[in-house]
Amino acid sequence: ISYLIAEKSLQGIKALVTAGPTREKIDNVRFITNRSSGKMGYAIARALRYFGAEVTLITGPTTLLAPAGVEIVRVESAAEMANAVDEYLPGSKLVVMTAAVADYRPIDVFPNKLKKHPGEMTITLERTRDILMTMKKKPGQIVIGFCAEDRDIEARAREKLSRKSLDAIVCNDISRNDIAFESDENEVTVYFKDGSVEHLRKAAKDVLALELVTIIARQLLSNS
Ligand code: CTP
Ligand code: CA
Repeated sequence: ISYLIAEKSLQGIKALVTAGPTREKIDNVRFITNRSSGKMGYAIARALRYFGAEVTLITGPTTLLAPAGVEIVRVESAAEMANAVDEYLPGSKLVVMTAAVADYRPIDVFPNKLKKHPGEMTITLERTRDILMTMKKKPGQIVIGFCAEDRDIEARAREKLSRKSLDAIVCNDISRNDIAFESDENEVTVYFKDGSVEHLRKAAKDVLALELVTIIARQLLSNS
C-alpha cells in the first residue's frame, strides 16, 4: 500500500487517540493492569500529526516519550480515561481507541498497604464502563476500535465492530508471539463496517501506523 495522502492533508482535522493500559488500584501500592506498551497508539498519534491533524493523545501509564506536537493527557484508571474521552470527544472528527482498558476494577480500594495474612485472599471486581461502546458518537465522526484476539479472530472483530457501532476495527492475532504487545512490529487486519477487509503485512509499528492513517484518511476524506 502506498501513501496516497499528501503530507498535511489532515490539516484542520481534530483527532483523539487513546493508548496504553489502565491501572485499577487494589491498595496504595498494588494495581491490576493489562499488557500494553502503548507503542501502537503513540505511533498512530505521531502518524496523524505527521499528516497535519490536531491530535490529543489520552494515555495510560507507559514508558514512552510524548510525541512532539501532540497534546498529551495522562490518566491512570479506566474511569479517568472515560472522563478524559468524554471531555475531548465532542470536537473530534476522528477517534482511534487503541487503549487496553481494564474490563474490571476492585470494588474496594484499600487506602493503606494491605498486609499479608494466613490463607487465601479474595478481591472482588466490578465491571468498568466500556468507553468505546458508550461514548456519545456524533454523525460524521469516524470511530476506529482496536482488538487483540487469540481465536475466532474475524468473528470476534466483526461482533465488536457492530456492537460498538464503529467505522472500522483493527485487529491483531495475539496467538502469534512475533508481533504485537512489547514488539516494535505488528501485523493487523482492518474490518470496515461496509464489510470490506484490508490486511496490513508485518511491519514496524511506525510504518503500520502511517499505512493505517492512510487507509482511515482515505475513507474520511471520501465521506466528507
Ligand atoms: N474499550 C474501551 N473501554 C473498555 C473496554 C474496551 O474503550 N472498557 C475499547 C478498546 O480501546 C478497543 C475496543 O474497545 O478499542 C475493543 O476492546 P476489547 O478489549 O477487545 O473489547 P471488549 O468489549 O472489552 O471485549 P473482551 O471481552 O474481548 O475484552
Ligand atoms: Ca476488554
